[in-house]
Amino acid sequence: MSTQKHFPYVNNKMFAEKVDLSNIAHHVGTPFYCYSNTAIRQNFQAYEHAFSSQDTLICYAVKANGNQAVLSTLAKIGSGADVVSMGEILRARAAGIPAEKIVYSGVAKAEVEIEYALNEGIFQFNVESEPELELISQVAKRLDKVAAIAIRINPDVCANTHAKISTGKSENKFGVPISKARLAYKQAASLPNIKVQGVDVHIGSQLTELAPFQEAYQRIAQLIVELRSDGHDISVVDIGGGLGITYLDESIPSKQAYADVAQAQLSHLGCKIVIEPGRSLLGNAGVLVSSVVFVKTGEERQFLILDVGMNDLVRPSMYDAYHEILAVDNSSTELKTYDVVGPVCETGDTFAKARTVKESKSGDLIAIMSCGAYGAVMSSTYNTRMLAPEVMVKENEFAIIRQRPSYEAVINADNVPSWV
Ligand code: LLP
Repeated sequence: MSTQKHFPYVNNKMFAEKVDLSNIAHHVGTPFYCYSNTAIRQNFQAYEHAFSSQDTLICYAVKANGNQAVLSTLAKIGSGADVVSMGEILRARAAGIPAEKIVYSGVAKAEVEIEYALNEGIFQFNVESEPELELISQVAKRLDKVAAIAIRINPDVCANTHAKISTGKSENKFGVPISKARLAYKQAASLPNIKVQGVDVHIGSQLTELAPFQEAYQRIAQLIVELRSDGHDISVVDIGGGLGITYLDESIPSKQAYADVAQAQLSHLGCKIVIEPGRSLLGNAGVLVSSVVFVKTGEERQFLILDVGMNDLVRPSMYDAYHEILAVDNSSTELKTYDVVGPVCETGDTFAKARTVKESKSGDLIAIMSCGAYGAVMSSTYNTRMLAPEVMVKENEFAIIRQRPSYEAVINADNVPSWV
């Protein structure tokens, strides 16, 4: 069974909405990413509905998937953007997301990036440190602009997620410790060309429980009360992203349950709520389709060797992440246990060990599920493998939304100095 409702089996063939994935494979070759436009919109609308009783700005975390067609889909239905670089601001703006719906996060904003964001007129800087606050003030003063800011607070809450994507503990590099928050706000209020408007928190990604959110939001609510008593005009609370998705059998709280927790802790403050979801909008809206190159019999195990590698999808090798692996043609009744691996010259290029899937042979199509977020965006051309193309499906239509680059384009991007 597919865990993704927009990638159903129809007569034992996996579809993306109403398009047969093998038909797309025939047109674009493998490997390729495929996203469901309907899934993206429905996920966004579920957040919109969950927060409808409150003034809320949904700022999609562009880092999860920055393809222009994805951003345009979200822009058209009213999404803002959470960005972490000038490149992401440019992407969001190019897709039609208005500057006044952009929040700018990230631990090391460079001067040129701050300048660009100020000139665009973004909604808010989520400031991660005191030195960054000073730099933003200096740049804003030089440009004669006012920077609206929130300070990202590190609430020292354990998110119970993978260590590499946990951000809200005191040992993590993110944000200003909650114990120093009032001092940091005092400093902010004293700096020229800074308008203190909000408080920001983000504790991690792929959270499967509500308790860490609840604890963090409770601490933030208390802080807002203190900041107001210190004389700060706090009208925005940015509660970050982080709600997880089902990769295997995790039972994930609904968007409504998440909203209920946030609102229970924060509604009484009368702030505008900003949310920054990434994975929960895109993760289960995408799959990565590949072909079996060889089935190889080792001494102890069978290897299913795919034409997709860790350069295309790094999550299994980087975070030991689980992704469901399914045959696109589900008609065989034979099951077999394989180590599912890629072609890259590293042992870490392994998608799954001892995974039982449909018995497969060279040329069969395999879908790696739940790849819409942190898939294509984290890919590289390692081993001089071309970036996998991306395809978007809407009902019975599909379109290539990023081409596979040519070898020439990749090789010609290098320059050989005359003195070599
Ligand atoms: N806001 C901030 C400030 C963030 O740092 C992140 C993600 C988000 C929002 C969105 O979080 P989400 O809703 O997607 O959980 N590459 C890793 C995930 C890294 C997440 C980084 N920050 C992975 O593949 O699991």
